[in-house]
Amino acid sequence: MQKRDELYAGKAKSVYRTDDPQRLILHFRDDTSAFDGKKKESLARKGMVNNKFNAFIMEKLQAAGIPTHFETLLSDDECVVKNLEMIPVECVVRNVAAGGLVRRLGVEEGQALTPPTFELFLKDDANGDPMINESLAETFGWATPEQLATMKTLTFQVNDVLKQLFLDGDMLLVDYKLEFGLFDGQVTLGDEFSPDGCRLWDANTREKMDKDRFRQGLGGVIEAYEEVGRRIGITF
Ligand code: C5P
Repeated sequence: MQKRDELYAGKAKSVYRTDDPQRLILHFRDDTSAFDGKKKESLARKGMVNNKFNAFIMEKLQAAGIPTHFETLLSDDECVVKNLEMIPVECVVRNVAAGGLVRRLGVEEGQALTPPTFELFLKDDANGDPMINESLAETFGWATPEQLATMKTLTFQVNDVLKQLFLDGDMLLVDYKLEFGLFDGQVTLGDEFSPDGCRLWDANTREKMDKDRFRQGLGGVIEAYEEVGRRIGITF
């Protein structure tokens, strides 16, 4: 497979075309950003850590029957994925109250959420990724009701697999964001799963082990990502 020109550069990843129109290369960069790109930093080893972390998780999900775009690792900070037609809707599941939910509703951080909540956000940087719902997504053509139903089912299946995986490593999967796209018409998990897009707390001390360390200036960001990886069996 040959790497061709850059198709798109996001805040932390760049996407390249290949000689196969059905395949793309994802390059995980060391760039880290938060607050809609207002806080930015380059963190050494981040690209490599997130690339290997994502590959490990995507393979677990694939093995559990969840269709993902992941195909294979290509280098320390690159992987090959299926070329999805992305659906511009982010799916968020929360098992424990934190972040945006606490800010919006004034509920107590750390409160267990039973059953877990499911939220939709429009992928729209310029407008701060506003919260949306099924009705808005259907009316504006961002996703069909059938696609949304599949996205919700798959997002909760991911929760079943990953909650247990992290719990086995003594961590709580507090919340996470997933993005989906279409491949041959099938709703397929895209983007990445890494500590950049989820919250993970130590199950005993509740220490934050995810991107909140960067957002809140707590330090030890990549060390925490590596510790999460080590606890679930990833070698970097
Ligand atoms: O900010 P909020 O609490 O709504 O985020 C919920 C979860 O989704 C967090 O784990 C956060 O890291 C993730 N997220 C993300 N990308 C976004 C919005 C949220 O990865 N654009």
